[in-house]
Amino acid sequence: MNEPIALDQALASFDALWSPRIVTRVNDYDVRVAKVEGEHVWHVHDDTDEFFLVLDGELHIGLRESGGERTVVLGKGEVFTVPRGTFHKPVAPHGARILLFEPSGTLTVGDRHEEVPAYVDVTTGHELG
Ligand code: NI
Repeated sequence: MNEPIALDQALASFDALWSPRIVTRVNDYDVRVAKVEGEHVWHVHDDTDEFFLVLDGELHIGLRESGGERTVVLGKGEVFTVPRGTFHKPVAPHGARILLFEPSGTLTVGDRHEEVPAYVDVTTGHELG
C-alpha cells in the first residue's frame, strides 16, 4: 500500500548507526535515511553521484579532489552531491540524521573503500521495519 511516510517516524524505527533504511523509491533511485555518528570510511562510487541532505545535526564530508583534500560541512537543511569517481568520507562528530538519494543497489561503502570497521554497515539499504 502506498502511504505517506513520516521521516521522523522512519528514523525512530531503528537505532543502528551508518545503516540506511529505504523510505521510498523514485524510478531507479532509493530515498534512504540514516542515523550517523563518528566516522564512516573513505570510499568511491565509480558510476554514480551521491546526494546528501542533512535532516538534523551536522555532517562533514571529506573529499579527495584533483586539487587536494578538503572537507565540506553541511548543517541542517543543507544538501550536497558528491560527484561520481570522487573518494569521500562522511563524518558526524556529534551525530546527524541524513537523507540520501542514489541508485537502488548502491553500496554504502562504494566500489572501492578502505578497511571497513565493524560498526559500519556494508549494505545497499534495508527495508523499513
Ligand atoms: Ni558514498
